[in-house]
Amino acid sequence: MTGVPETIPFNRAAVEGAELDYMRATLESGHTSSSGAFAAQASAVLQAETGAEEVLLTTSCTAALELTGMLLGFQPGDTVVVPSFTFTSSALAFVRQGARIVFCDIEPRTLGLDPAHLASLLDDSVRAVVPVHYAGVACDIDAISAALADRPDVAIIEDNAHGLFGRWRDRPLGSWGRFAALSFHETKNIVCGEGGALLLNEARDVDRARVLYDKGTDRRAFQLGQVDKYSWKDTGSSFGLSDTLAAYLCAQLEQRAQIQAKRQTLFDFYADALTPHAERLGIRLPVVPAGAESAHHMFYLLLRDQQTRDRVLQGMRAAGVQTTFHYVPLHSSEAGRRYAARPTKCPVTDDVSGRLLRLPFFNNLTADNAQRVVDTLVRVLEGQPQ
Ligand SMILES: Cc1ncc(COP(=O)(O)O)c(C=O)c1O
Repeated sequence: MTGVPETIPFNRAAVEGAELDYMRATLESGHTSSSGAFAAQASAVLQAETGAEEVLLTTSCTAALELTGMLLGFQPGDTVVVPSFTFTSSALAFVRQGARIVFCDIEPRTLGLDPAHLASLLDDSVRAVVPVHYAGVACDIDAISAALADRPDVAIIEDNAHGLFGRWRDRPLGSWGRFAALSFHETKNIVCGEGGALLLNEARDVDRARVLYDKGTDRRAFQLGQVDKYSWKDTGSSFGLSDTLAAYLCAQLEQRAQIQAKRQTLFDFYADALTPHAERLGIRLPVVPAGAESAHHMFYLLLRDQQTRDRVLQGMRAAGVQTTFHYVPLHSSEAGRRYAARPTKCPVTDDVSGRLLRLPFFNNLTADNAQRVVDTLVRVLEGQPQ
């Protein structure tokens, strides 16, 4: 009997090692709030991997970005340059802290911030720029750095939600900006349900960041024995990650080499299997420029046009393969128009957003299922009946 094949999901987070044991240990020890032993251990791993001055585990990447917004302390009229092709959080976090957004286009190779457009947008109101390393591939760091060379007052905040363990010219992504934000949401390479981290790459930010992180108090200085009591010092919020989730994160980080290797294998499989069909079927595969080492966060394709992309989405779904589109342009969204400092044009974002398709991509997607994704995609693009 031939049954209907199981649906291949777009994403499925996996237990990779000691997650359950470590989470249980926090429940048994009684320390389930933030700043526990597992948080210290996870922060130490992230610090060693990225070279950050300090790592603060947060409840999400969004929260880490909000903390940078608080640290920068925007005044009325201040603006932040954000790519239009990103998740809402890259802009929302700064709007919440009182800044207006200047939406920048992306460049078509890496789908990262377009340095030429950025250069044309810089004026005295700009306080920060938020490059995103889309899919875990470095944006054009050299050209963006050159565009900002005579603006040392502008803070670079890397939204590195996709790029942990990616590299640019042998430097870890997340080590370039004054700040970098990470995500451990269940859709990412390293997960803990919901979680994130703020990497502080400059010593001058560490003391104040610790206070804002911990409800405006100097509790961290107290824990480190630097003061004999702690009290309210500044603004802030409750950003800390529960140690139960930090335990989950620790177990995932212990398996980082295996997780990254599985994702690289899957990425290479898709790339090798689709390359021979690319020209004939009008598929553009992801570009990893020389000098960049991908974090292998996702596998996306650019199809001929939006009509083809939408037809493929439907055809794949009908054949039991979940594929998805990605970001809807922020510059033309309802809130984007409300919170923009001024309207800007982002034609590459508009084009890419309509044509981009993401294939199922997760640690334990089997080779058979990966082959089925490719076969189904080719059949749907060829217009064959399913
Ligand atoms: C580029 C980017 N930044 C930030 C976020 C938000 O991450 P989190 O869900 O951890 O807040 C996402 C979410 O996927 C993202 O894609």
